[in-house]
Amino acid sequence: MRVIVCETYEEMSVRAADEIAAVMQARPDCVLGLATGSTPVGMYDELVRRCDAGELDFSPVRTVNLDEYYPISPDNAQSYRYFMNTNLFDRVNIDKKNTAVPDGSAEDPEAECLAYEQKIAALGQVDIQVLGIGQNGHIGFNEPDSALHPLTHLTALTESTLRANARFFSQGEVMPTAALTMGMGTILRAKKILILANGASKADAVATLLSGMLTTACPASFLNLHDDVTLICDGAAMSKVNV
Ligand code: PGA
Repeated sequence: MRVIVCETYEEMSVRAADEIAAVMQARPDCVLGLATGSTPVGMYDELVRRCDAGELDFSPVRTVNLDEYYPISPDNAQSYRYFMNTNLFDRVNIDKKNTAVPDGSAEDPEAECLAYEQKIAALGQVDIQVLGIGQNGHIGFNEPDSALHPLTHLTALTESTLRANARFFSQGEVMPTAALTMGMGTILRAKKILILANGASKADAVATLLSGMLTTACPASFLNLHDDVTLICDGAAMSKVNV
């Protein structure tokens, strides 16, 4: 695993945008696997800046997102579809028809998961998959468990994730307790993987990831099976790694 330790969140965001830009330049109609959460927000801002400056062209780019709450309407300001529109898609020259997020309003979640896998397969390989990492080591919403799912599936959110994400919900807003998420196999099929982690709350998960071992108690550790993973993090996220 390539590990890039940065001084600041801003530096992390620029380095992450560099990785995406390199993929876009090598293959203009690339498939980007995208993530939500607070970690990639700076990277999206940097990609928007480069698009405004004429350095990047999103018009031929296709995207697939990792996950979505369930049930939730795509218009709900808490949905990951809304997050992607406001943080990236509405700010760059991408064709929204080329952007995919699991449909949190689907009546039949199992059918939606199957359709989402088929959609990804039809796009061919994801060129680069961006990931955050949960405090509990989740990637997407693949939560620690005794067994992990290979494909896109409906999952209950763990207490740890509900606690971590409660900060995005104001009082009175109902937080979904389930989600649709790409599975471990869906993620691991990407050509390249870019995982971002900042802050001391991620230090345990990053230490397990960098131990090189695999455990379903830390789904991110399965990235050790992939031969092209880049971790971009700050010193606080690295603080429990034995060197
Ligand atoms: P965060 O979430 O970027 O908001 O910390 C990351 C994750 O849970 O995957």
